[in-house]
Amino acid sequence: MAIHDAGKADELAIGERKLLKLNGEKILLFRLESGYHAVQANCTHLMMPLKKGKLLDGKTLQCPIHRAEFDVASGEVIKWANFPPGIQALNIVRKEKCLKTYAVSVEDGQLSVEV
Ligand code: FES
Repeated sequence: MAIHDAGKADELAIGERKLLKLNGEKILLFRLESGYHAVQANCTHLMMPLKKGKLLDGKTLQCPIHRAEFDVASGEVIKWANFPPGIQALNIVRKEKCLKTYAVSVEDGQLSVEV
């Protein structure tokens, strides 16, 4: 584990995100009402990029491909892949899996992520 600089805290408005590559890992850093949160940048279903996923209700990230939904703060699965109809057949071999999360800290307006 190492602490990596992740830029200035005020660079992101609430509801915004940015993609980081730290220590070889792609990470999405979000600023939500609840604070800053970092999760793996690829969906655990089929590893597609989550960067352009919709942020639902200000805290849930929806994968743009098969619409799995994840809690950004905890990485937990809210809803597993459910689009298009029939995707459930694939889910027999692609079981629900949380997103990996990373600890984010803010000090003197500077963000750090532990990777
Ligand atoms: S790749 Fe994200 S739900 Fe399938």
